[in-house]
Amino acid sequence: MTNNRKIPKKRNFLYHIHPPSISENVLRPTHTWGLGGSALVLVLMQVITGILLLFVYSSEMSKAYDSIRMLQQEVLFGRLIRNLHHWGANLLIVIVFFHMLRVFFTGAYHNQRNTNWWIGLGLFLCVMISNFTGYLLPMDQLSFWAITICASMFEYIPYVGQPVREMILGGPDISQATLSNFYAIHIALVPVALMILLPFHFWRVRKAGGVVEPVGLNGKDEEKQKKLATVPHLVTREVTAALVLIAGLMIVSVFMNAPLYGQANPGLSPNPTKAPWYFSGLQELLQHFHPFFAVFIIPLFLVLWLTYLPFLKSANSGGGTWFLSANGRKTGIAALCTSLTLIPLMIIADEHASLFLYWFPEISPTVTDGVIPFVLVLAFILFFYGWIKRRFTATTDECIQAICIFLLVTFMVLTIAGIWFRGSGMALCWPWEVSINEIATIKRL
Ligand code: HEM
Ligand code: HEM
Repeated sequence: MTNNRKIPKKRNFLYHIHPPSISENVLRPTHTWGLGGSALVLVLMQVITGILLLFVYSSEMSKAYDSIRMLQQEVLFGRLIRNLHHWGANLLIVIVFFHMLRVFFTGAYHNQRNTNWWIGLGLFLCVMISNFTGYLLPMDQLSFWAITICASMFEYIPYVGQPVREMILGGPDISQATLSNFYAIHIALVPVALMILLPFHFWRVRKAGGVVEPVGLNGKDEEKQKKLATVPHLVTREVTAALVLIAGLMIVSVFMNAPLYGQANPGLSPNPTKAPWYFSGLQELLQHFHPFFAVFIIPLFLVLWLTYLPFLKSANSGGGTWFLSANGRKTGIAALCTSLTLIPLMIIADEHASLFLYWFPEISPTVTDGVIPFVLVLAFILFFYGWIKRRFTATTDECIQAICIFLLVTFMVLTIAGIWFRGSGMALCWPWEVSINEIATIKRL
C-alpha cells in the first residue's frame, strides 16, 4: 500500500458511520481503546437478550420471582440468557464509564464535539436507569431492599424529593405499581431513548470529522500517514473486537450465575442493606456526610460540573493529547496518590473518631452541622489546587484536571469501600466478612 493512494469510492451503508478512508493512526487499539464500539455491542446484546427474557418473565408482583426461577430451572438456555443480560448490563456501566474517561482525558469534548458530550451524558443516564429499573425486576430480597434503600435517598432532596420518590414508586412503598413503572421504563421508555440518542451520537462523531486524532503520536503528523480503506482495514478489526467481546461475555455467563436470593420479603430486611454496586459510592458518602450533602448537594455539583465541562476553553481544545501534557501527567499522578492515601485513612478515621457526620457528637446532626465538614472539604480542594499550581508550576488546565482526577479516584475508593468493606450494620469490615453476613440473612438460590 503506498502513501495516500486514492481509495476507490463505492456505495456502502457503513460510510454513513465511517469515512471511506482512514489514516493509519485510527487502526491503533490505543486510539479509542474500542470502548465506544464495545458499548454499542453491549447495548445490542442487552436488547436481544432482553427480548428473549420477555418470553418468560412476568411483571405481576406475585409471579415475577417464580418466572425467573422457572426461567433458570426449566427453560432451555434460560439461565444462560439471564446471565448474559445480567453480566452484560454490569459490564456496560464499566465500559461506558471508561469511554467517558477516554473522551475526557483526550480532551475530545471541545468545539464541534461538545454536543456529543451532552448526548453522551444522556446516554449515560439511560444506561444507569436501565440498570436501576432492571435491578428490581427479579423481585428477590436483594433487588427489593436495594431499591428500597435507593428510593429512601430521595427523601433528603428538599421540596421535590418526597413527591418524586412517590411518583417513581407509584406510592409510598414498593408495590405492583412500582414493578409496573420500572418494567415499562425498562423495556420501552429507555430502549426507545437509546435508539434515538445512539444514531445521533454516531452522526455527531462523523460530522466532527471522525474521532479525535492523537497529537504527535510517534512524531508522525497526520499528512505523512498512510491512508487506508475503511473496508476492510477498520471494519474487520471492529468485527473481530466485537466477536472477542461477545465470546468473553459468553464464557463469563457460562461459569458465573447472576445472583438470585430468596423471594422479596418486605418484613425482613437483610443486614447490611446495600444499594446496587454502582450507587455504593453514594451510599458510602452517606456514612460520612449529612444526607442533604451526600445525596443532594454533592451529586448536584457533579452533574452541573459535567454539563459545564465543554464550556471550559482549554489549551487542549483541539483535543488529542492524553492528560494535556507531560506536566499534566505528573500532576495527575500526584492527585491519584493523594486520593489513594488520604481517602482510605479518612474513612477509617471517621469510623473511629466520627469526624464528619457527627461533628457535634453530643447532639443529633442537623443540616447546619453538615455544613462545616462540607466547607472543610471544599477548603481542602482549594488548598490542593494551590499546592499543585505552586509545586508543579502547573497551568490552570492542569490544576483543574488534577482536581478532577482527585475527585474521580475518591469516588472510586468510596465505591470500593461501599461494596467490599461494609458489613453488618454498615460497619467497616474485611471483604470476606461482608459475604458471611449477607448469606446469613438471605438465602441464595
Ligand atoms: C451507550 C453509551 C455509548 C455508546 C454506545 C457510545 C459510542 C460511541 C462511539 C462508537 C464513539 C466513536 C469511537 C469511540 O470513541 O469509541 C463515541 C464517541 C464519543 N462519545 Fe460516546 N458512547 C456512549 C456514551 C458516551 C458518554 C457517556 C459520553 C460522555 C459523556 C460520550 C461522549 C462521546 C464523545 C464526546 C465522543 C467523540 C469522541 C471523539 O471524537 O474522539 N459517549 N461514542
Ligand atoms: C441498556 C440496556 C439494558 C440494560 C442495562 C438492562 C439491565 C438489566 C438488569 C441489570 C436486569 C436485572 C438482571 C438480573 O440480575 O436479574 C434486567 C432484567 C431484565 N431486563 Fe433488562 N436491560 C436492558 C435492556 C433490556 C431490554 C431492551 C429488554 C426487553 C425489551 C429488557 C428486559 C429485561 C427483563 C424481562 C428482565 C427481567 C429478567 C431478569 O431479571 O433476569 N432489558 N435488565
